[in-house]
Amino acid sequence: MKKTASRKKTASRKKTRPAAAAVTGLRKLHLLGAAELSEGEIRFLLSTAKAFAPYVVRGETIPLLQGKTVVNLFFENSTRTRMSFELATRKLAGGTLNFAASTSSVAKGETLIDTAKNIEAMRPHCLVVRHSSAGSPWFLASSVGVPVVNGGDGFHEHPTQALLDVFTMEEKLGTVKGKRVVIIGDIAHSRVARSNIHVLRKLGASVAVCSPPTLMPPLPETLGVDYAERPEGLLRDADVVMALRIQLERQNKMQIPSVAEYSQFWGLSRDRAKLLKPSAIIMHPGPVNRGVELDPEVADGANSVILDQVFNGILVRMAVLAAVCNPDGLRGWLSKGGRRG
Ligand code: CP
Repeated sequence: MKKTASRKKTASRKKTRPAAAAVTGLRKLHLLGAAELSEGEIRFLLSTAKAFAPYVVRGETIPLLQGKTVVNLFFENSTRTRMSFELATRKLAGGTLNFAASTSSVAKGETLIDTAKNIEAMRPHCLVVRHSSAGSPWFLASSVGVPVVNGGDGFHEHPTQALLDVFTMEEKLGTVKGKRVVIIGDIAHSRVARSNIHVLRKLGASVAVCSPPTLMPPLPETLGVDYAERPEGLLRDADVVMALRIQLERQNKMQIPSVAEYSQFWGLSRDRAKLLKPSAIIMHPGPVNRGVELDPEVADGANSVILDQVFNGILVRMAVLAAVCNPDGLRGWLSKGGRRG
C-alpha cells in the first residue's frame, strides 16, 4: 500500500509544473500568447526584466543579442510597441530591421507568408509581428524557422503589453496577488484586455471588466472575471484601473451611440477618479483618446503610471527577446548574477 502511494506521489510530482522559482526560461522558441505562458514563465520574464532595469537606467548595453538581427514586421500602426522592441534590441547589442506594410511589397499584393519567407531568407534571428488578423503569429511560427514574437494580433492577444502592465503594477504595488484590477473600455475588441486577464489571473489578481453591453464579449463569465455595465460600483475597491481605447477600427459599425456618450458614462473623468482609493494606480496601454476614456487631468495626474508603462515596455521586451533569441546566454548571464560579459 505504502509503495503504491509513494509511486502515485512520484507520478503526480512529475506531472506538476516546476515551481516558479525553478523556471529558467521559456518552454518554446516563440512568444505567441499570454494564454500559453505558465505562472513560472511569466515570473521568469518579469524577474529578468527587473534584472535588466539598472543597466538600462545607467545607459549600459547587455550584449545578449550581439551579432543577431530582430525584424519588426508590422502590418498595423504602432508607436510604443515597435519603438520599444527596437530599443530593446539595441540595448541588448542586436541589430533591427523595421518593416512597414505601407511602404513594402505588400502594397503590390505580396502575401504575409511570402513576405515572411523572403525576410527569413535574409537570415534574421527573430520576427516580431503585428497584424490585424487574429492568429497570424501562430501561422507564421508554424511556417518559418526563426523565433516569432507576437506584437499584437487583431483583437486576440498582445502578450508583451500584458507583461509590461503587470511589471508596472508590481513595481507600484509590490505584488498583483490579491489585488483588484478593473479594466474599463472596449473589452470585446481588446487584445490588451484578453492578454492581461490571462496573466493577472495566473498571478492571483482579481479582475473585473466594465463596458457598454455592445462592447462586452459574449459570456464574459467564461473569462473568469467579474463584469459590470457601469464603472462606479467597481472603482471604490480597485487597486488598479486600466482604461482602454474605443477601437473604432475593429468595429463593423459604431457599437456605441456616440463617442461623447461613451465618455459621459464610461470615461474616467475627474469626478469618477475621486471614487478611487488614494493608492490606486491609473493605467492605459496607449494611444489615449484624451477626453474620451480618460480626462486629461486624470491621464496626467499623480496616480497615472502611463509613462512608466512605456519605459517598462523596453525592459520586458528585452527579457522576451533575450529569452527567445539567446536562452543559453540569458541563463548564463542570470546565473552570474547579471554581470556583464
Ligand atoms: N500599446 C500599444 O500597443 O501601443 P502601440 O499601438 O503604439 O504600439
